[in-house]
Amino acid sequence: MTALLSLTDMEVRFGAAESMASAVDSVSLEVKSGEIFGIVGESGCGKSTLANAVMGLLPGAAHVDGSAKLQNREVLGLDEKSLRALRGDEMSMIFQDASASLDPTWPVGDQIAETIRAHRKVSRREAKQQAIDLMTEVGIPDAASRYGDAPHRLSGGMRQRIVIAAALANQPKLLIADEPTTALDVTIQAQVLQLIRRLRDDHGTTVVLITHDLGVVAEICDRVGVMYAGQLVEVADTADLFAAPRHPYTRALLAASPGVPTESRRLATIPGQVPAPSDQIPGCRFQERCPRRLETCMTTPHREPVFPNEVACWNPEPLPAGMASPTDLLGEK
Ligand SMILES: Nc1ncnc2c1ncn2[C@@H]1O[C@H](COP(=O)(O)OP(=O)(O)OP(=O)(O)O)[C@@H](O)[C@H]1O
Ligand SMILES: [Mg+2]
Repeated sequence: MTALLSLTDMEVRFGAAESMASAVDSVSLEVKSGEIFGIVGESGCGKSTLANAVMGLLPGAAHVDGSAKLQNREVLGLDEKSLRALRGDEMSMIFQDASASLDPTWPVGDQIAETIRAHRKVSRREAKQQAIDLMTEVGIPDAASRYGDAPHRLSGGMRQRIVIAAALANQPKLLIADEPTTALDVTIQAQVLQLIRRLRDDHGTTVVLITHDLGVVAEICDRVGVMYAGQLVEVADTADLFAAPRHPYTRALLAASPGVPTESRRLATIPGQVPAPSDQIPGCRFQERCPRRLETCMTTPHREPVFPNEVACWNPEPLPAGMASPTDLLGEK
């Protein structure tokens, strides 16, 4: 599969020049066409900042460096007009809080139809019909009669579906979903995840799914990238990540996740906190919390590129016997 989205050395800094600290630090990553790629990490690790940087949605005070290519086209540094044309058409984003992305005073159906008309030359009537079809597709019962409802007349799960319908209105190639199910109860959460999977299966939409919930990752992601303190520390196929997490942070995250099977049944928490972007840390940013820390980790950051199934760590967890590392596989070619 070819890469739909290629990030190279992505860097995001907030604040005045002299005190700038990286909220996203040298992230390089390829998301393949048609895959569901998960991004996980604790709160404050830079997941949303990375997504918003790709979408061109960061505030003016943010400094973004590096490269983000959507189908070989650079999207960083585009002017607002080109970005607006791209957003909602080629790439689309679902935010965590559905209510915040809907206009409370406007019928939900019109909000979807408007998204269609912003990018396509279609009549009002056609846009309305397409909006109703989309509402039906995302599982709104009796969509035509719900078209004119204001958002507050819908349940939280239905509102999230409307947001998803609007994000899909123009069949984007890339959908970035930032914690799309966090605010929903478990049943609705499962339905929304199914919907996202169906999108990929039926329309070939490439999905980047941001979550702090490893259960969600296990359920629908093909591959996953783990972020810690602004950096991408491990990328792996989902099955491999769960079977053999290599980065001590990934292992700690798995151990701390309720409902995710790990070799130890005991529920653990990760002692300590994610450092703030402004914390100057020589060496690895996880060192304070790491049970596998070496002398090198205190002084020298691990700057190796994170290729598929690779890990940015001086002392990764060993692979279980019989499991080949990607480096071994490369050697066999
Ligand atoms: N507009 C901003 N100005 C200054 N700092 C910011 C801004 N937005 C984010 N940050 C900082 O960047 C870091 C990463 O934040 P971000 O929201 O990307 O984390 P996250 O991984 O999405 O967390 P969560 O899981 O809580 O959503 C945090 O330290 C945050 O304080
Ligand atoms: Mg976030």
